[in-house]
Amino acid sequence: MKKTILITGGAGFIGSHVVRLFVNKYPDYQILNLDNLTYAGNLENLKDIENKPNYSFIKADIVDADKMNEIFTNYPIDSVIHLAAESHVDRSISNPLDFIMTNVVGTVNLLNAAKTAWKDNFNDKLFYHVSTDEVYGSLGETGLFLETTPYDPRSPYSASKASSDQFVRAYENTYGLPIVISNCSNNYGANQFPEKLIPLFINNIKNKKPLPIYGDGKYTRDWLWVEDHAKAIDLIFHRGKLGETYNIGGFNEWQNIDLIKALCKLMDDKLNQPQGTSETLITYIKDRPGHDKRYAIDATKLNQELGWSPSLQFEEGLSKTIDWYLSNEEWLNNVTSGNYQNYYITQYETI
Ligand code: NAD
Ligand code: DAU
Repeated sequence: MKKTILITGGAGFIGSHVVRLFVNKYPDYQILNLDNLTYAGNLENLKDIENKPNYSFIKADIVDADKMNEIFTNYPIDSVIHLAAESHVDRSISNPLDFIMTNVVGTVNLLNAAKTAWKDNFNDKLFYHVSTDEVYGSLGETGLFLETTPYDPRSPYSASKASSDQFVRAYENTYGLPIVISNCSNNYGANQFPEKLIPLFINNIKNKKPLPIYGDGKYTRDWLWVEDHAKAIDLIFHRGKLGETYNIGGFNEWQNIDLIKALCKLMDDKLNQPQGTSETLITYIKDRPGHDKRYAIDATKLNQELGWSPSLQFEEGLSKTIDWYLSNEEWLNNVTSGNYQNYYITQYETI
């Protein structure tokens, strides 16, 4: 069946993997990648597929409501996979309003544009909203986030994502818009902007710069290979039940300090330097305000209903990720020049 799918945020980290998967796997689908190319958006991420006949790029800001309506008028869009967002918790602490604008207002603009263009005839239409496990708040030592866990967002980022999720559900309840939502844990892999823990630390080790660990480093995250997230999105898009929420996670919890030590060991190997060299860069710094202690996803529903499970062991994924960053020096240099330097100085001014 032919489809025209608007993928928002397709020039970003996860979005670029989703766009690549759909463009390559579904030559009959037209894939429209809508992205405003903020600091986190990078068309270099999609060089390998940019000339495919079923791919087009649209530069636009989802905060611009008129533009969203125009795009839905100009293209026969029947589905949306919405990933565009401000995504970094630390930046949300410095600039919450940017997160409200893109994540909340931008999402509502897209919902309105889809609803208007589809003229309340929702046959074969779908609005798929990609969200995060952070909406569920912070776990103690035990327990896992289920799809039924009450929302308890605790940072401006997670509050903006929780709000966008609820607007998506409200549009289903009020107008009957066909929607599906997934909430995923921490992703890692190629093309992640080096403000997030893993690529930041790879880049710093490479440049022999301090590794800034917030607080005591005993915060826990559940890590998932980004291509496994893209595969889950593909499954949910095609086979997920309308109106449902699916949790996606790696069944792969790590305390930050343990993860960083494992990363340091791998980096020492890859850089042919004595074991222990990278660990000397570890530097404990002031904690992130409101730092969530632990996230961990129960992805049983997705596994049992749609047969999804992560394909890659973490050590293998981490090794592949390091290899990607070490062999894509130009990409890394391009994204860490210019404004990145100002961000870095402000964020890590004490080290
Ligand atoms: P990212 O920051 O790497 O990419 C975001 C993309 O959105 C960029 O290409 C950026 O240019 C674009 N964008 C931002 N504001 C825009 C606007 N106003 N208009 C149009 N485009 C805009 O983010 P990511 O890590 O790839 O995350 C993608 C989505 O997945 C987000 O919705 C995020 O909340 C969610 N998510 C991320 C993770 C993770 O671990 N990274 C985990 C779960 C869910
Ligand atoms: O859980 C899903 C979320 O994961 C996504 O929704 C977000 O978009 C994504 O950014 C990520 O959020 P985190 O805050 O968990 O990711 P980050 O890489 O920023 O941090 C991971 C952990 O590492 C967290 O406990 C904070 C810590 N950290 C992070 C940085 C950048 C440090 O100790 N030092 C750092 O410099």
